[in-house]
Amino acid sequence: MKSVALPGHRLQVLDRGAGTPLLFVHGFPLDHSMWQAQVDCFSQRCRTIVPDLRGFGKSDVHPGPNGMEDFADDLAQLLDALGETQPVVFIGLSLGGYIGWQFFQKYPERVLALVACDTRTVADSPEAAAARSAMIDRVRREGASCVADAMISRLFSPSSLQQQPELVEQMRQVILRTPVEGLAAALEGMRTRPDMTRILEKIDVPTLVMVGEHDVVSPPDEMRQIADKIYHSVWCVVPHSGHLSPLENPTVFNDALTEFLSK
Ligand code: MLT
Repeated sequence: MKSVALPGHRLQVLDRGAGTPLLFVHGFPLDHSMWQAQVDCFSQRCRTIVPDLRGFGKSDVHPGPNGMEDFADDLAQLLDALGETQPVVFIGLSLGGYIGWQFFQKYPERVLALVACDTRTVADSPEAAAARSAMIDRVRREGASCVADAMISRLFSPSSLQQQPELVEQMRQVILRTPVEGLAAALEGMRTRPDMTRILEKIDVPTLVMVGEHDVVSPPDEMRQIADKIYHSVWCVVPHSGHLSPLENPTVFNDALTEFLSK
């Protein structure tokens, strides 16, 4: 990992390999380590750029709300700081996908292709926004453990929860290490994120839409509608996975990404 200075704060980033740049953007409330199986596979032939977003992992915390556009701006500045001038394959999971729509809207010339994993385009409903407000209060009172307790069983499929306990525990530890203000700032940003559905028909780069077959956060039916609205989309359901398809079933995920990249 290296530490990269952006105007006002520092981001930690794993930067491995050479060739076509693949930018991997993690979900909430995780960090770069959720992409380990993809780094191992793709850094042999591509440049894998895998940051901890502001407020997560070992990156600096930035006072909230941290909106999707703020995260997207960080990523553009990160690429500049790394000297990466080629358009990237933007691979975002969930929160990473929300940021991906903003990144494409603001920096279309920097996107060679998109990979939208287990994500959504709609804004929070009033009920979801109220639940985020309650979680912001709780995390400030009780610490990161309440986020881990609320989310872990929703992130993984029932079979992963049973059969991959070490992986589940590894992600729980990542959440517990996340700074409270980093969690709160991202929750505030997600609570007010705009509906990005209208961007889908403007996407003119090849796009792979992937979802775990048992994802309850961004369910396959909803993601299928996203894929249907994108002209150049490829659709992939990852079996035996919940919301964290690249972690839960890296073999199928990596095969689908390899095939997509080869085209
Ligand atoms: C994520 O995985 O990034 C979160 O589930 C996104 C969200 O809470 O909306």
